[in-house]
Amino acid sequence: MSKIISGFSKLTKEEKINWLATNFFNNQPEIIRTIKQYWNVDEKLQQLHDDFIENTITNFYMPYGVAPNFVINGKEYVVPMVVEESSVVAAASLVAKFWSKRGGFHAEVVSTTKIGQVHFMYTGDKQQLQNYFEAKKVYLLEATKSITKNMEKRGGGILGIELKDRTESLKDYYQLHVAFETVDSMGANFINSCLETIAKEFRNDETEIIMSILSNYVPECLVRAEVSCKVEDLGGKNPQGFAEKFEQAVQIAEVETYRAVTHNKGIMNGIDAVVLATGNDFRAIEAGAHAYASKTGQYKSLSHCEVKNGMFRFWLEIPLALGTVGGLTSLHPMAKLSLDLLQNPNAKELMMIIAVTGLAQNYAALKALTTKGIQHGHMKMHLMNILNQLGANEAEKEEMICFFKDKTVSHSAVVEKYAEIKK
Ligand code: MEV
Repeated sequence: MSKIISGFSKLTKEEKINWLATNFFNNQPEIIRTIKQYWNVDEKLQQLHDDFIENTITNFYMPYGVAPNFVINGKEYVVPMVVEESSVVAAASLVAKFWSKRGGFHAEVVSTTKIGQVHFMYTGDKQQLQNYFEAKKVYLLEATKSITKNMEKRGGGILGIELKDRTESLKDYYQLHVAFETVDSMGANFINSCLETIAKEFRNDETEIIMSILSNYVPECLVRAEVSCKVEDLGGKNPQGFAEKFEQAVQIAEVETYRAVTHNKGIMNGIDAVVLATGNDFRAIEAGAHAYASKTGQYKSLSHCEVKNGMFRFWLEIPLALGTVGGLTSLHPMAKLSLDLLQNPNAKELMMIIAVTGLAQNYAALKALTTKGIQHGHMKMHLMNILNQLGANEAEKEEMICFFKDKTVSHSAVVEKYAEIKK
């Protein structure tokens, strides 16, 4: 029987669940129980979440953890992180503590400009188009006044509009390339509303507007995070050897794309977790970060390292278009709580906090990879996950952790040993 349905969105939540249960789960009652188990008992709160998207049937939990002991530009933070990967928060916390004793992290916002474009086709004379644009420019800005008024009061608005001839890449293709400052909001709605208004004002019989949309490529909305210390202060038996190997690991990610992608994925483990916890758009952040990593034409590491004159320096440069007002940041109670926990940063401060978390995560990964290997730490967390799955109690967990202290954790080895201690 076909499972294509019309009017699904019009069904009540209960009806949607029943339809799914009938059509995909043989009406098993436990399916309905599982779905409803994740409903919030507070109906008003549940309604709030239902309304974020279409066709909500339940909630999907992700762990919300916190990484204490971050010191950024001399200020102390506890960083909220929403992430499912077991070792991420532990790694961030360890690294935060390590660097808190070495002067902490330093961060600076390099720039905060965002871009939006009106893409259009034009077959006529180029100079005439340029003249039309020059004459029209003031009216384009004028047309957006009702939208930009409030943003201008907060110090933002439209920074400039350029006409770009892209006909060398695509026949008849031109753009209005618009630069924006959106202060503490991510600004997607603001930018898109401005662009659509500009397009309406700009269009004439000779131009065909194709689309108006912000760009998630934000190389001019850039933040830098850094740690540094004397090589000897890195600790361990051979700090010079460690620093050099660490630097080489970063250099490999600067020249080898297969490694660079994984290296940057490790950075995004930290970045996405805080982006999610603060109600920001992680897809936009991901897209922008990876595009920036390819800005030279080759995909490269977003972080860099230098070991020189007895000093170890490790830094990250990443574009982050974030908001601390508007969107989910004020709607989602946990996003609001995260911002409160971070002492209500403005967007620039949040850019620095998030970049630092990415750098910390990268440091943790590279340290593990160039010393004990990554599986050591991962497997410890993996062991806990397996024990939870097996329903081990606290005493059993303790015994198992002790047993696996000096052994390789594999699913089958854990299951076998667990069966043995259960006997
Ligand atoms: C795993 O989620 C992230 C790492 O693979 C990052 C890296 O290799 O640098 C450990």
